Amino acid sequence: MKILVTGGLGFIGSHTVVELQNKGYDVVIIDNCSNSSPEVIKGIISVTGKSPIFEKFDLREKEKVKEFFSRHNDIEGVIHFAASKAVGESVENPLLYYENNLSTLVYLLQELTNKASSHFIFSSSCTVYGQADELPITEDAPVKEAESPYGNTKQIGEEIIRDTCRVTPSLKAIALRYFNPIGAHPTAEIGELPIGVPQNLIPFITQTAIGLREQLSVFGDDYPTSDGTCIRDYIHVVDLAKAHVVALQRLLESKNTSNYEVFNVGTGTGSTVLEVIQSFEKVSGKKLNYKIVDRREGDITAAYADTSKANNDLGWKAQSSLDNSLSSAWKWEQKVRN
Ligand code: WQD
Repeated sequence: MKILVTGGLGFIGSHTVVELQNKGYDVVIIDNCSNSSPEVIKGIISVTGKSPIFEKFDLREKEKVKEFFSRHNDIEGVIHFAASKAVGESVENPLLYYENNLSTLVYLLQELTNKASSHFIFSSSCTVYGQADELPITEDAPVKEAESPYGNTKQIGEEIIRDTCRVTPSLKAIALRYFNPIGAHPTAEIGELPIGVPQNLIPFITQTAIGLREQLSVFGDDYPTSDGTCIRDYIHVVDLAKAHVVALQRLLESKNTSNYEVFNVGTGTGSTVLEVIQSFEKVSGKKLNYKIVDRREGDITAAYADTSKANNDLGWKAQSSLDNSLSSAWKWEQKVRN
């Protein structure tokens, strides 16, 4: 069975390709390599021994999307990762984000709604909740006004899919709201490859530990939390990838209870920034050079998932501990730099 993975050379996409191949699916990747490299295919092959089909083009080119589906009319499912995802960049360049993240989604859905049946997994984000009123966060928590154009494209993307599914019984879709993806494949053959200065915490920690960055800045220790630093739900990227496969299987096996569903994908446990640093120091044996600085604009105090819906309906639960996830991130950083 052939599955399309858009953005399949990216961090979460490549790990999902591996898990799809492990389950016996044939995978086709579309990626424009704007934030990834074809070298990632070698890593995927090293892990699974199987080569995905790879087509390099930009999903903003509507005619190419149409032509792709005319050639690959045996695609049974689509997992859609391809999107711009840097919060800060989205504030500086909103139109890039609205065009890239939304027009590509529309063009994909226009092709899928022409098929007799289609199964679609959408990469969404816990960012749609903003600072939730209650913790842990359930899927029923209200979607808050987006803190950034990036977050807004996830909210609008979910609404586009929801409204399309409402009038297209042949289209079955699931939106997965990720919490904070971290770590790397245990083989260290694939992992996160941030371009330039990392915006996210874990790659900045591992790059500081390996000597690429001078010092980690901890953005604020005056939040109302146990140690004053922000709380997040850090989920191993392989656990996250596996959630995509079980979500797709739910649709392929018609176990879905409606043709548009939403699931939180996290560990259900929150960790403060200082707890992450302590965990990293323990698993790496390295003393991390960091300093407390002012808060970062737009950061929320705390977010961690209520994962009972995914546990019960998908039969999925994150397996990796924070220590193990950080250990895999460190192993990958050492592999990439050496
Ligand atoms: C985590 C915590 C920072 C860097 C974002 C997006 C989300 C998803 C994941 C795309 C926060 C602190 C960070 C640093 C720090 N992106 N921090 N020093 O902001 O929770 O989520 O990335 O899918 O949609 O919103 O992740 O890793 O940037 O920050 O102190 O150098 O680490 O303040 O508390 P975030 P993050």
